[in-house]
This record gives sequence, structure tokens and C-alpha cells, in this order.
Amino acid sequence: MRLAGKRAFVSGAGGGIGAATALKFAQEGASVAAADLNAEGLAETLRAVEAAGGSAVALAGDVADPARCEAMLGEAAEALGGLDVLFNNAGVLLPGDEGPVETPLEAWERTLRVNLTGVFLACKYGIPHLEKAGGGSVVNTASMVALVGSAYPQIAYTATKGGVLAMTREMAIQYARRGIRFNALCPGPVGTPMVKAFLSDEAAWNKRRPYMPMGRLAEPAEIANLVAFLASDEAGYITGAAYPIDGGITAAYVIDDA
Ligand SMILES: NC(=O)c1ccc[n+]([C@@H]2O[C@H](COP(=O)([O-])OP(=O)(O)OC[C@H]3O[C@@H](n4cnc5c(N)ncnc54)[C@H](O)[C@@H]3O)[C@@H](O)[C@H]2O)c1
Repeated sequence: MRLAGKRAFVSGAGGGIGAATALKFAQEGASVAAADLNAEGLAETLRAVEAAGGSAVALAGDVADPARCEAMLGEAAEALGGLDVLFNNAGVLLPGDEGPVETPLEAWERTLRVNLTGVFLACKYGIPHLEKAGGGSVVNTASMVALVGSAYPQIAYTATKGGVLAMTREMAIQYARRGIRFNALCPGPVGTPMVKAFLSDEAAWNKRRPYMPMGRLAEPAEIANLVAFLASDEAGYITGAAYPIDGGITAAYVIDDA
């Protein structure tokens, strides 16, 4: 098991990529502190982890709330006896987030608060626990929109994901000789309930499919496999990297959409 003995904090673990990763971490031998705003989602994640023979604790709260975020990292370290891994994955795509002209300031500010400040806070309050453990691995969820633009804009979301990527690189350099690695995920469209619902509309799917070399969405478990590798000691020489995990979307210029 590649994460045997590791103690991991996972945010956004009440659904989608975070839930799949909490389960994968547990299957790989880690003990998991699963954090989310959604207590029901967390309970479901815990049931899945326990059914797989793993162990996890649930932390309900908002990563964008500084006091609660600090407390959640403290509770995670206390419950697990320390922390070796942070998967900073909680994120939102809010209604009204469109182009710069259309997007209300409130949607912009809340998106920055959760997607960017939330990752900053979890690093601010999580890194000292990793240092105490003698090192560790931090994986932050950005997006492929940190790498390429889209004519269907989500300006606040995209700005935060670019920020997560830049912040991840800078932290990687700062901590490179101090035993903590930082990497960013840049997923393409993943088949989480929200994305599946949106793309089950045939017209929306037909607009996007021609840009997808594999012609399908990622499964959350496919993202979790990469996170588990990056979190593990097998990735010991990998830091400051941005990982597209997008079925080839960001590699494509023209594709054969037969
Ligand atoms: N689904 C995709 O296509 C896709 C693509 C690229 C990147 N991402 C990113 O992956 C991450 C996970 O997204 P997902 O697709 O699994 O979405 P999701 O909505 O299924 O899961 C996100 C989870 O984060 C939680 N959350 C939201 N705000 C929070 C907060 N302030 N504090 C604590 N928890 C909070 C939600 O309750 C939810 O359980 C996000 O950062 C998202 O931007 C998703």
C-alpha cells in the first residue's frame, strides 16, 4: 500500500473528486481527515471508507473561514496523530460566473474566497503540521483552465485556478529543501454529479465533445489515482509541477471527432 502510515487532510471530501480521493487514500493505507461544508456528503464518504476497511474522521466546516479552517487542521492533526499530506481540493463554480462584464462582484469575491483563500488558509494552517511530521506532500486542485482559456468564460473560477497554480509553484520552491513537496492538479471535465447534469444536455455535450480527444469525461477515481501517487513517497522528486489530467484536451490543436 503506497500510503501506509500516512495521515491525510482532504478538503471537499463530501463529494466528487475529494470523496473519491479520500476513499483511494484509505485503500492505500492512509488515515484520513475528511473536511467539507456538506455534513451529509461527509457521512457518505466515511461509510465508503469504512466499507473498504479504512479509517477516517469527518470535519464539517468552511475552508474559507479562517478560524474554522485553522481549527479543522488542528482537529485533523489531533485525531490522526499528525499530518503528512494535504489535499486542498474544495472548490466552487458559482452561478453568474461568466465574463468580466456579466459576473457580479459578489460571485467574484466568494469564488476567490473559497477557491484561492481557502487553499491559502489550508496551507497556512496545515504546513506547520507537516513540518512537525518532518515533511510531507501537498496537492492543490487547480484546473485545466489554469492552462488554457475558454470561450465559455468563468472568469472568477479561472482566475482562482491560475492563482492556485502560481501559489503552488511558489510554495514548492520555498519548501524544496525543507521536505515538503507541492504539486497542482489541472483536471479537465470530470464526471461529478454537477458536470454530468450539465453535460447530459445534448446540445451542451455536442459543443464540447469536439475538443475532447478521448470523447469522454474523467471518472473521479482516475483523478484520485494521480493524487495518491503525488501524495506518496514514490513521487519524492516531484515538486512544483502542474499535472494536466484531461484526456489530452490541453495537448490538442485539431482532433478527429469521428
Ligand atoms: N468536476 C470537474 O470537471 C473539475 C474540473 C477541474 C477542476 N475541478 C476542481 O476539483 C475540485 C473538486 O470539484 P468536484 O468536481 O469534485 O466538485 P463537487 O462539487 O462534487 O465537490 C466539491 C466539494 O467541495 C465542497 N466545498 C465547497 N466549498 C467548500 C468550502 N468553502 N469549504 C469546505 N468544503 C467546500 C462541496 O461541498 C463539495 O463536496 C474543485 O476545486 C473543482 O474546482 C473540477
